Amino acid sequence: MREVVPVVERVQETPSTVTLRFDFAPVAAPGQFVMLWIPGDDELPMSLSYTDGPRKGVTVKAMGDTSRRVLGLGAGTRIGVRGPYGRAFDLSPRRLLVVAGGSGAAVLAPAAAEARQRGASVTVALGATTAPELLFAERFRAMGAEVVEATDDGSAGTRGFVTGPTARLLGERPFDAVWTCGPEVMMLKVVEAARSRGVPTFCSVERHMKCALGMCDACALGPFHVCTDGPVFEAGRLLGETEFGRFHRDPSGRRLPG
Ligand SMILES: Cc1cc2nc3c(=O)[nH]c(=O)nc-3n(C[C@H](O)[C@H](O)[C@H](O)COP(=O)(O)OP(=O)(O)OC[C@H]3O[C@@H](n4cnc5c(N)ncnc54)[C@H](O)[C@@H]3O)c2cc1C
Ligand code: FES
Repeated sequence: MREVVPVVERVQETPSTVTLRFDFAPVAAPGQFVMLWIPGDDELPMSLSYTDGPRKGVTVKAMGDTSRRVLGLGAGTRIGVRGPYGRAFDLSPRRLLVVAGGSGAAVLAPAAAEARQRGASVTVALGATTAPELLFAERFRAMGAEVVEATDDGSAGTRGFVTGPTARLLGERPFDAVWTCGPEVMMLKVVEAARSRGVPTFCSVERHMKCALGMCDACALGPFHVCTDGPVFEAGRLLGETEFGRFHRDPSGRRLPG
């Protein structure tokens, strides 16, 4: 499905992050993404931060030029949306640890909400640079999740990376699964901590995308197309891939560290 629709609501979530809500009828599952474009301008893959019903949403962090232009769009502006694409989270685990770094909370919040509705217990380790940048902390609490915060500067929760509370929580109590999204170096540490406790981990991975249909190879990660084999992967499938957590690719497909 491909449509140009008006933005019906714009919410400033944190100083650097905005949610745009729009009506887009196709059924979507938490973990899936859309390709979002500004007509006459550029297109970006964006996870759906609201998947329920026809009123969908994306939550965009200011990064480079295109995302900053998306942040500048107000209610009434028309945007292009195609999708939804990709594999969603498996919502069956009963005791979940959700680990979000920065804008990674965007894809994890609707998945956590759906899991809560199905009766799962959800603990969220939520990380950001500073307290005002903690994304969806109140949304997670309102759905009945326990939220454990970490900030780089110590302005809320534990000082340091969210991997600290993650390791502690994994040592304190049993979980059936870990879901994580954030910088790959963070996800790699989360995967290693969870694997040492025998807890399966599911990562939402980002790569450069063009077609989102498994045809152009722009999003290649080893043998996988992130757009169709992911973006949600069981971590065991990624660990053999030397790129995961170590390299990304630029628009031309060149491999870059980080
Ligand atoms: C599956 C998936 C889900 C994502 N979900 C979110 C989300 O929920 N919230 C969020 O803030 N970000 C999300 N991203 C990242 C987002 O797509 C951009 O990579 C990010 O916003 C930076 O884009 P930019 O144009 O600001 O950066 P720049 O570095 O300035 O981009 C340079 C150029 O590359 C293009 N470009 C940048 N990234 C991509 C990309 N991944 N694919 C294709 N073209 C690209 C830009 O349009 C521009 O032309 C997601 C990425 C993927 C793959
Ligand atoms: S974006 Fe074209 S194959 Fe994935």
